[in-house]
Amino acid sequence: MNNDYSFNIKRKRPEDLFENVSDYFNEETLTTYAESKSIMRTQKKITIRALELLELKNKHPLILDAGCGPGFAAAFLNELGYKTVALDIISEFLKYYDIEYLNPILANMCYPPFKPDSFDSIISISALQWIIRDVNSESERLILTNLFVSFYQILKPESNMIVQFYPKSTVIMDYIAEIVNNKTNFKGNFIIDNPNNPKKRKIFLLLKK
Ligand SMILES: C[S@@+](CC[C@H](N)C(=O)[O-])C[C@H]1O[C@@H](n2cnc3c(N)ncnc32)[C@H](O)[C@@H]1O
Repeated sequence: MNNDYSFNIKRKRPEDLFENVSDYFNEETLTTYAESKSIMRTQKKITIRALELLELKNKHPLILDAGCGPGFAAAFLNELGYKTVALDIISEFLKYYDIEYLNPILANMCYPPFKPDSFDSIISISALQWIIRDVNSESERLILTNLFVSFYQILKPESNMIVQFYPKSTVIMDYIAEIVNNKTNFKGNFIIDNPNNPKKRKIFLLLKK
């Protein structure tokens, strides 16, 4: 892995301040997030880049958007004509925009309620940092392992998945790589856009079953 970039995190992040994601996304924060046009634009850009990296072969793929929030990615994927299953752990997010028409699922993405070989792809945008914060936590290790093992199972053979997230250090990235390598048969790597510009940096984990 390329470690030529630095993480200079000055302030504590929401995922460090709140144990439960639903405590952070209370009514006010959730509304501000869901109604922000600039966040919508940013999440759409990230989704476009994720799709570029995924290189989907199937023209009519069934995609899982894991941690969909108000559906910025899911609604866009749907607009592109991809059948999309949107899933989030916070029910209030699932009432925004057109996401209701996608029949979103209220569930924990670490325990996705789907049969094996269900999806042509999985996309997860800006959610994984809520699942792994402390590499010394045994419970987080088990939960993260379950997430990747489950994602491996519910993906169809030869399919790709992508996760974009905001790790706070390369230690977290190495830790994730170790779990993926040791607990699943995924092949893949991190792809880092703008590695030397912390404001513009985007980190993706692209995995192939
Ligand atoms: C920053 S928001 C991103 C939402 C959306 N992907 C987007 O691009 O706008 C993080 C989302 O991850 C969801 N999330 C965090 N942990 C989750 C979990 N264990 N299962 C499902 N969703 C989760 C949160 O509820 C929240 O909607």
